[in-house]
Amino acid sequence: MPPLKQLPAWTELESHYQSIKDTHMRDLFEQDPGRFKHFSLKLGKLLFDYSKNRINNDTISLLLKLAKQSHVEEWRDKMFAGEAINHTEGRAVQHVALRNNTNEPVYVSGRDVSSEIETEILRVKEMAEKIRTRAWRGATNQPITDVVNIGIGGSHLGPQMVTEALTPYAIHDLDIHFVSNIDENHINNTLEHLNPDTTLFIISSKSFTTQDTMVNAETARSWLEHKFGSDKYLHRHLVAVTSNPKAATEFGVNANNILKMWDWVGGRYSLWSAIGLSIVIAIGSEYFDDLLEGAHAADEHFTMTPLDENIPVIMALLGIWYNNFFNSETIAILPYDQNMHRFPAYLQQADMESNGKSVDRSGEFVDYSTGPILFGEIGIASQHAFYQLLHQGTKLVPADMLAPVSNYQCIAQHHRALMSNVFAQSEAMMLGKTADEAMAEMLDAGMSEKQAKALLPYKVFPGNRPTNTFLFDTLSPRMLGTIIALYEHKIFVQGIIWNINSFDQWGVELGKVLATNILEEINEGCVSKAHDCSTEGLMNYYFKLRSQVG
Ligand code: F6P
Repeated sequence: MPPLKQLPAWTELESHYQSIKDTHMRDLFEQDPGRFKHFSLKLGKLLFDYSKNRINNDTISLLLKLAKQSHVEEWRDKMFAGEAINHTEGRAVQHVALRNNTNEPVYVSGRDVSSEIETEILRVKEMAEKIRTRAWRGATNQPITDVVNIGIGGSHLGPQMVTEALTPYAIHDLDIHFVSNIDENHINNTLEHLNPDTTLFIISSKSFTTQDTMVNAETARSWLEHKFGSDKYLHRHLVAVTSNPKAATEFGVNANNILKMWDWVGGRYSLWSAIGLSIVIAIGSEYFDDLLEGAHAADEHFTMTPLDENIPVIMALLGIWYNNFFNSETIAILPYDQNMHRFPAYLQQADMESNGKSVDRSGEFVDYSTGPILFGEIGIASQHAFYQLLHQGTKLVPADMLAPVSNYQCIAQHHRALMSNVFAQSEAMMLGKTADEAMAEMLDAGMSEKQAKALLPYKVFPGNRPTNTFLFDTLSPRMLGTIIALYEHKIFVQGIIWNINSFDQWGVELGKVLATNILEEINEGCVSKAHDCSTEGLMNYYFKLRSQVG
């Protein structure tokens, strides 16, 4: 395949960009009253409105051409066929197999793994049900009331995000806690309120070597041993999820309590696997199945729908349009549902660890921008924090807004006000406010012409700020599964077009190695290795201050 910027569609998009870059969406909407219909898609009860983007029919045709010329469909089929598309680690990428409920075989490098998946998911469900039904007893024969998931990155963010998002579906007499930070405050603050007799730890780590997780796991183990006087009862309070069972056994986890994950499931794509144990404990097997089914519905949509009606493909192409032609560097994720408060953080890892790469599949540095900086927060909170920049700042920040039209309890007064904000914000970002409108408004409010003129520049909103809106019935397990999988596939498509490997993460290695070396020096109490003068200065100051604070 020719380099990305030499693809015919890329060149055409460059000149198309010149012709559309100054067009205001106000005009596009005026010219085409059917714009909403043309630029919106549905999947089940999910509506994806992408009409408030700086696009016309030509933009979409050219972007679709780009997808074709980048062989998105061929790569998608390779992923679903279990080919080793993660070429730097020689691995297949088969998280989609975990939610395949078709009874069709699923392959990893030519081997059918469907029965393996079934067996392991059954073990997860059995374990979760034992805990939920109080059949699982701790060392003092008491039922488990608190489950602590110890993990980080993909072994933390996905389970935590889903568990929080599905709070209304969770069992009430069990609390799930998440500890990820190596900073002792995290585990101490959590354990402070817990009773070892009724606490179960899940050590979630694909590698079972991640420093943060292992240090927290050791603290948890000591906490249990301190209470029970020996490691004899650990098996009642410790479970591990890992692809490194040997390390988990050496750590002291009973073989029966080790749930398996596979190297063909990437950490940030692993919530569908045994890494989702905390989710199954919280919401139960049936709702977990719904979550998987929702994701599978998105997989089917992705694999079977033509590109021009394919939601993740369109999401990806719009992202590329802004990232590579408008040079916008960020994307804001704005859920209008309090229970989705961890969704932006979860997506941050999914997207930025996947597509934060600058070397292509042939080992060459890319000469174009790849993954965007993703940030976000609950929509309502953000309106009172950073929306000012979105509306009137100098940067173009495309945003995704997500909202359920009804929530679990749905107190009308709250929900109507919430929804009025969703509609108002995307409308305001698109329309903006012209100088004439701002002037008229101020004069109507009784301001003198002089005062109004002085304030006018501050009162104008440029508008033309792109948003996608996802509206869905309610944040059910099924809908959440669909939404997550759509984003996974969006990330995949972008990775293919940027010609990068979205499934490795070598960039996180260097810091880990250096931290291991520096830890040795910290343990020795002095700087003993060569460092730059800043790092050396910081370490020396640390040693000095440390000796003063004790
Ligand atoms: O920090 C990088 C990373 O490897 C992530 O990709 C991963 O999700 C996380 O660390 C945790 O890894 P593990 O599950 O092996 O502890």
